[in-house]
Amino acid sequence: MENGNKPTNTKRRRSSASEKAKEIEAINGIVSGRNVLITGGASGLGHAFMTHFLKHGANKIVILDIDAETGRRVEMSVEKSYGEKKVHFIHADVSNYEQMTVAFEKAKSLMKDINIVINNAGILDERRWEKEIAVNIGGMVCTALLAIKYLKEDLYGYGSTLVNVSQHIDIKCTAQLPVYTATKHAIIGLSQSLAATYPCENTGIRVITLCPGLTETALTVDSPNKLLSRVMKADFVKNLEQLSIQTPYVVAQGLMSILRIGESGSIWVVENGRSPYEVYVPNPSSLRRTYKNNITLVEPKVTTRGRPIREVCDNTRTGLMSCA
Ligand SMILES: NC(=O)c1ccc[n+]([C@@H]2O[C@H](COP(=O)([O-])OP(=O)(O)OC[C@H]3O[C@@H](n4cnc5c(N)ncnc54)[C@H](O)[C@@H]3O)[C@@H](O)[C@H]2O)c1
Repeated sequence: MENGNKPTNTKRRRSSASEKAKEIEAINGIVSGRNVLITGGASGLGHAFMTHFLKHGANKIVILDIDAETGRRVEMSVEKSYGEKKVHFIHADVSNYEQMTVAFEKAKSLMKDINIVINNAGILDERRWEKEIAVNIGGMVCTALLAIKYLKEDLYGYGSTLVNVSQHIDIKCTAQLPVYTATKHAIIGLSQSLAATYPCENTGIRVITLCPGLTETALTVDSPNKLLSRVMKADFVKNLEQLSIQTPYVVAQGLMSILRIGESGSIWVVENGRSPYEVYVPNPSSLRRTYKNNITLVEPKVTTRGRPIREVCDNTRTGLMSCA
């Protein structure tokens, strides 16, 4: 979850009204007329994303969720304010590939094209960690792969977009959430690999990672009762109490700005209710520790430090030689 550091003293300049108007106009340019699919869209962050897409003029939105009752209620309430057939609810479990294949087909037939996919559905339940892994990794992989298949090349020139929702990684604050944290780390790997495997220049698809900090949703409110052991609860609550919590509205607002400027492969944090900032995955050699007391580790006795991979792999099976 997010870190508890207090904001620094550096003064932030408030945007003027005309700058804000320009930003809204620019976001409308990206969102207006587009079709959006949001997993876990019935409540929490997913619901806030839906509201912002509507505000910025999205054409049609599909919210896909396992909670049928809330999903249908949202569909009906949007109908009252935005008219019929603006938001469709599809009942599906993201961790069930068959259900998701049917759901994407249905979404395509409802919206014709799918331009933006927000891969958001997730749970926090360390006691049912197999389920947590199935939804947070299995479900997100399933959604991401189907999204790549269905996102059509963008006719407007901005590229279709897949946003994978991870979390703001701060190891010390997630000490009591080992499995949840592992699943959220995995999503950064998934996003980075997909962005590299399907380069935006060739496919027109941007892959972006969103890392929200602690946000006021059912997931957070229930989290103290979802730990691996009751013994952890007191420490967990103490850690949580040191953090500030933001509203889903701020994260959704941040996502709109990210959609405007985020490049494929980029990773964005929205924390403490502030505007988004981009982070990068560091080069491991830049993270290398140096020891103060001159500890030197014994170098292994090998004649060659590395061997060409082609010498090791059976090229008749791997085809490595023919790729060279
Ligand atoms: N709340 C936070 O502090 C926070 C911080 C960082 C990241 N996140 C991530 O944001 C995402 C949304 O979380 P939230 O806080 O809005 O949670 P939430 O519990 O408020 O909403 C999650 C939504 O996903 C749906 N869902 C759950 N399992 C599903 C499944 N198997 N198939 C389809 N839908 C399913 C739920 O019914 C619900 O509508 C999650 O991936 C979460 O890990 C949350």
